[in-house]
Amino acid sequence: MTVLADRHNLDTEIAPSDQKADTYVSLIKRLSTQSVEKHFDAYADIDWDSKEMSVDQDDPRWILRNGELDPLGTTAWYKDLDDKTASRIGLHMVAMKMKIGLQFEGVLKRGLLGFAAKLPNNSPEFRYCYHEVIEEAQHSLMFQEFVNRTGLDVPGLSGMDEFGANTVVQLGRRFPPLFFFFVLGGEDPIDFVQRKALRSDADIHPLLERIMRIHVTEEARHLSFARNYLKKNVPNLDPIRRQALAMGIPAILGSMAQLMMQAPSHVVKTYEIPKEVVKEAYGSDIHRQNTLASLAKVRKLTNELGLINPVSIQIWKRFGIWDEPK
Ligand SMILES: [Fe+2]
Ligand SMILES: [Fe+2]
Repeated sequence: MTVLADRHNLDTEIAPSDQKADTYVSLIKRLSTQSVEKHFDAYADIDWDSKEMSVDQDDPRWILRNGELDPLGTTAWYKDLDDKTASRIGLHMVAMKMKIGLQFEGVLKRGLLGFAAKLPNNSPEFRYCYHEVIEEAQHSLMFQEFVNRTGLDVPGLSGMDEFGANTVVQLGRRFPPLFFFFVLGGEDPIDFVQRKALRSDADIHPLLERIMRIHVTEEARHLSFARNYLKKNVPNLDPIRRQALAMGIPAILGSMAQLMMQAPSHVVKTYEIPKEVVKEAYGSDIHRQNTLASLAKVRKLTNELGLINPVSIQIWKRFGIWDEPK
């Protein structure tokens, strides 16, 4: 079993320590070595059947108490609910996020395999991508196992296909830079929320804490790879591809942010959450600011790579995901 340090001590992304001496290739090799030295197995590294890990729908630790993690918890409607219903809704929200997370990871794995298939022999990226695919498969196993153990009806996103899952998969093979921006658009916000939860003083269920810590540890490598791949490759693109990227990034990030900003309609229907309550929670300024903050790192990278121009900025604004660089 791979041991993790204390809850607040989280691995961070590896960056090249010195741009000249520590090249892109050595960074990729270090990431691959780390994948060998510190990786997790969904079943060997989580004690699913221990008593403390069991999932009880009535456990008050599922109650949404931190408005920054889920704004529904701040509404008067939610606060008025009896504890049983409140904890069940909280658990349902966690399970829905895990299901959406594993759907995202499914698209990610397929895209990564397409990307790797085009690489020549001896590419350090090939080995690293396969480590990442394996890690994502373990994440999806643990997310699905958690969903199964809630005993709740968790359908996930029905519109995932419409959302362009297949188009995104094709990007892995045909236009990797845009694919890796999609990767950051999904991974950065999830990582942001999980780190925030782990750093908070909230009384987190030990199973959820274990899953989040495993995830955050391995995602640090995935984020490092995507960001450094983009830093290495975007400057070499021709002007047409750069423009395609400038326009494609806000469209992809905006669509994903909209999905993240909406309340899961299945939960809304199941618990008959009134429309005004949904609007109060997910249309709130705090929620909008949180979503903007969760995309801050990828927005900063887009800016640093010179992929923001007067036309593309309009798309960022139209999706409500623009914030002036700080
Ligand atoms: Fe993952
Ligand atoms: Fe990942």
